[in-house]
Amino acid sequence: MTEKLSLESRRDFLLFLGGATLAGALPGCGSLQKLIGSKPPFEALLPNSTDNLTTISGLNWKILIKENAMLNQQGLRFGMNNDFLAVFPTETPDTFVLVVNHESIHPLIHYGNATFSREKYWVDQEMTGVGVSLIAIKKDSDGLYQFVPDHPYNRRLDANTKIPLLSAQPIVGSRVARGTLANCSGGKTPWGTVLVCEENFSDYVGERLHGKRTILQTSKNQYQWFTHYDMPPEHYGWVVELEPLTGVARKHTALGRFAHEGATVTQAKDGRIVVYLGDDENDRCLYKFISANATSLEKGTLYVAQIDQGRWLALDRNADPRLAKAFKDQTELLIYTREAAVIVGGSKLDRPEDIEVDSKGQVYVATTNNSSKNRPHGSLLKIVESGNDAGALTFESSTFLAGGKTTGFSCPDNMALDRNGNLWLTTDISGSKMGNEDYVYHGNNALFFIPLHGVWAGQPFRIASAPRDAEFTGPCFSIDGKTLFLSVQHPGEFSTSKSNLTSHWPNGGDQLPQSAVVMFSGSSMELLLGATFKD
Ligand code: FEO
Ligand code: CA
Ligand code: CA
Repeated sequence: MTEKLSLESRRDFLLFLGGATLAGALPGCGSLQKLIGSKPPFEALLPNSTDNLTTISGLNWKILIKENAMLNQQGLRFGMNNDFLAVFPTETPDTFVLVVNHESIHPLIHYGNATFSREKYWVDQEMTGVGVSLIAIKKDSDGLYQFVPDHPYNRRLDANTKIPLLSAQPIVGSRVARGTLANCSGGKTPWGTVLVCEENFSDYVGERLHGKRTILQTSKNQYQWFTHYDMPPEHYGWVVELEPLTGVARKHTALGRFAHEGATVTQAKDGRIVVYLGDDENDRCLYKFISANATSLEKGTLYVAQIDQGRWLALDRNADPRLAKAFKDQTELLIYTREAAVIVGGSKLDRPEDIEVDSKGQVYVATTNNSSKNRPHGSLLKIVESGNDAGALTFESSTFLAGGKTTGFSCPDNMALDRNGNLWLTTDISGSKMGNEDYVYHGNNALFFIPLHGVWAGQPFRIASAPRDAEFTGPCFSIDGKTLFLSVQHPGEFSTSKSNLTSHWPNGGDQLPQSAVVMFSGSSMELLLGATFKD
């Protein structure tokens, strides 16, 4: 290659990487010249809008389980619109428990409720479709996994499961919540439990302003379950800790209440547990919780990020007179975490979603977009804590990668690090906007591989594309690190009737679309996890 790339060769090169643009310089660590000198060993996927799960050559996928699948002969069923995934070992080699969050339900596609009626009959069905599924999976001789029906570890938590609220004070007169719902992303603790987060709870149970008794009626609480059941909004929007082998759950109030996307757990140098938390709404904040001890999340301090100053600000009523004035006790502060964050000056971000922490302690935060600020593509924010210590209260931050035509991705959402410490990223352009002018270059939502090591560090490669209206969510590696589990969520979400479906994935023909968990394997998977992408 010559020093100056011709327009044609530059375009071909960018297309080769799975972008589709003539504009801008390549981002990341490697210079363009350096990258050109090291031709990537596979051809990235071009954007597409087909109603299928498409991948780069040599990357194979297979369905593990589809929504509504029977879990046992007693009639227990897998939930709807699967999201976060986490794998745990059992006492039996090659048998694992896969924890699966269910983010939402679709009244038409899942229940045939064409008018989206809010009669109790419909609500009762919907309440069984949300929450969390725990399913046993078994590794086969081919290295892939199979769901094990009727296994005693197959369980469901839904909107009717009683779950204790761990709190200094009762919440709306109770220490027990009716169920968990809107479970989006999550995390794993060092002691073998899983955190499943409650995100858009107000869609189901509404929300109340501080000091008000009346639930706000907005277009955002479209499911209106509170019209039939006693479901105080203050019982939702928490981080739920769950034991994967028993299904025992509790809601932690110490980690605050907001639209919890995920809960990424790491450890401070002094051993305390640190949990990074995003609040997925326009102009909401990034938080971190530092536990009081190394074995529990029940007590500790919640902080909000002040990005410009590089400081974590404590949301502690006992240490801040402004918070003491605004809230009658710490329980009330935690219920209205967003209000406390505003009082202390937390930075407003572009929908902070999933968070990953690499082996050096560097923190990657996906900020999806901000429609109120006309920032449609989002970015990956990188935070380096002082002394690379997750327990530090100061940090430096920078934009690691910006979404847009140059990088090829838009609306970054969920992430996972593989065994080499490289990043896997899913995108979530809303189905209502997909194909609009801002997003036409992107095609359907996609899975990107972003090496953080080796010559390709910082260069996103598109490696899989989702069916129509779907997003990929919950990327998660098997315990041996060889297989990627991924949720395909809400294909056909914007279908208006059963005769006008926007997707028929995965069953094809004229069938209803279904969310599903898929597994990726094959020669390209081995390549992406191999020596090429190490330092
Ligand atoms: Fe449930 Fe923020 O995605
Ligand atoms: Ca999202
Ligand atoms: Ca998400």
